[in-house]
Amino acid sequence: MSRELSVSMMCIDLSNLGEMLRTFEDEGVNYLHVDVMDGHFVPNLMLGTTYVEWLKNNSRIPLDIHLMVEDPAAKLDWFPIGPGDMVTVHVESAWNVLDSLIHIRKLGAKAVLAISPQTPITSVIHLLDYVDGVCVMLVIPGFSGQTMIKGMEEKIRALSDYRRSSGSEFFIEADGYIHEDNIRSLEALGVDVFVAGTSLLGEHPGKYRERIRLFYSI
Ligand code: DX5
Ligand code: ZN
Repeated sequence: MSRELSVSMMCIDLSNLGEMLRTFEDEGVNYLHVDVMDGHFVPNLMLGTTYVEWLKNNSRIPLDIHLMVEDPAAKLDWFPIGPGDMVTVHVESAWNVLDSLIHIRKLGAKAVLAISPQTPITSVIHLLDYVDGVCVMLVIPGFSGQTMIKGMEEKIRALSDYRRSSGSEFFIEADGYIHEDNIRSLEALGVDVFVAGTSLLGEHPGKYRERIRLFYSI
């Protein structure tokens, strides 16, 4: 699978949203990553249903909805999820996370299971038949602009080794602290989809087209 980019919409300049979306479409951005936070599962409140609906209606780019909420199964129907989209739920967020994965696939979307930095990969191995992807959080969920937690490369390597030895076909997404100096090494470890916010939209104001091109050319 070739390298894919999911742009983190929590880092966007809202005053320039329309123009940025057109640029993302021109540059072939693969997903719009929408961080949904409920102030309970994570200590932040972010990106609601109306905004997600607006993105769905105003962009051709598939959505990558990252649910950092308690009881995600009860909230899936709040979002405009359809074929081509990707929806991520956290294994730590509910006892019935499998219900969510099954429901997401029934909607025609890709079901992704996320693991926070402190969660071992053994907590998702038994559910891999129900997922299209595993999202490895490289930072503590809740905020952009953090640095990578130690040990995350080893975690990706272990997940990738498992994928190879078991013949499974799930993709690996990495979320948080994606920069030009770690893209190639993370890709070599097995990452397929990269979620980037700060390095594309925050650190170089106005240069997002160049930053996206750099991501794909590295
Ligand atoms: C953190 C979010 C990330 C975040 C990534 O909880 O899940 O998607 O937006 O932002 P950066 O690129 O700043 O780490
Ligand atoms: Zn995210």
